[in-house]
Amino acid sequence: MRIRAALLILTLVLAGTVAGERPVAGALPRAYNGLAATPPMGWNDYNAYGLEVTEALIERTADAMVANGMRDAGYAYVTIDDGWMAAGRDAAGNLRPDPARFPHGIAAVAGYVHARGLKLGLYADAGLRTCGGLAGSLGHERADAALFAAWGVDYLKYDNCYAGPGCDQVDCPGGRAAPARERYAAMRDALLATGRPIVFSLCAWGTEDVARWGAGYGNLWRTTGDISPTYASMLSIFRQTVGLDSRAGPGGWNDPDMLQVGNGMTAVEDRAELTLWAALGAPLIAGTDLVRAGPDTLALLTNRAVIAVDQDPLGRVAREVSAAGGRHVLARPLSGGDVAVVLFNETGTTATIGTTAEAVGASPGPHRLTDLWAGTSTTTGGDIEATVPPHGALLYRVAA
Ligand code: GLA
Repeated sequence: MRIRAALLILTLVLAGTVAGERPVAGALPRAYNGLAATPPMGWNDYNAYGLEVTEALIERTADAMVANGMRDAGYAYVTIDDGWMAAGRDAAGNLRPDPARFPHGIAAVAGYVHARGLKLGLYADAGLRTCGGLAGSLGHERADAALFAAWGVDYLKYDNCYAGPGCDQVDCPGGRAAPARERYAAMRDALLATGRPIVFSLCAWGTEDVARWGAGYGNLWRTTGDISPTYASMLSIFRQTVGLDSRAGPGGWNDPDMLQVGNGMTAVEDRAELTLWAALGAPLIAGTDLVRAGPDTLALLTNRAVIAVDQDPLGRVAREVSAAGGRHVLARPLSGGDVAVVLFNETGTTATIGTTAEAVGASPGPHRLTDLWAGTSTTTGGDIEATVPPHGALLYRVAA
């Protein structure tokens, strides 16, 4: 047993270090809490509702996720974003839910969600106030983590507004407060001390080069500022995230922010977002109104073959093979020797995009090529080429 435990720790330590780099001070091994072996999947209210979250919204969304197949497709976490708490703490110094928005408290909502086979996520902030101006957790990490665990929270999204004395404003680019890394470590340790498995989401918007140290501090880290429901925003976030592939892996993932699928982009762009996010090994956190979502949106979100790429157990994410002229080729090695290949046309005109099995790292020989959106297969001797519509992305699985 002792030897096995020592080997496990050694493996975790090695896995937590990007080749040739020294570990960051204060970091724990990647997968330090044993969670998020694959990128977390779920739903969060913020993209559709902003700060207007209520217990009724969370509960009817949980019901919808059961009824519409989202839960069974793997979307496990239902997350309450900013807006849930009262502006101040109670007399004992505890966070408390806004009595109008969550009249039965967070534990009751957790019970409701758990009874439907789902998990509960909650939002807090590593500073003086949340981005919406409500009570922050800086200096209260132990008490707040204990409260979250007692309520039955399974996932914490931890934001970075009003970062502390010297930064009493939404964002301080100069970094006058304590570094995010220290403030995130305090909550990480507080969550670990509760003994409850709680996925830890670092919402630090790519600041302080969070992708360099995020593994060992949390299970996912935002690589950029907030996404909006436009192609331009989605594209810019993709571009800022794609080069960070060496940072992602089991237990710790680059987070290009929540999905905007269903929120106003075209169907082609919605599909491109899911394609790119799956290749990047991004957390798949739906951000649309799931009670009203139409069949087209739900069909995109629940495509099993696409989800299987995102959730591939090997845990390596896509690298960019080429991007000349906005014609992107991405390759993601999958377990069993398959390779996921994306042909993404960033431009506003139809383009032919091509690559080869060799360039994407597939084994030599003819390959079965499955278009995961169309569900059709062909055989290729080596060339992988297609005509891709403006803003479109195709996703193939190249069989070993
Ligand atoms: C920040 C985060 C968003 C959301 C809002 C809530 O902007 O990056 O994802 O949580 O705060 O106020």
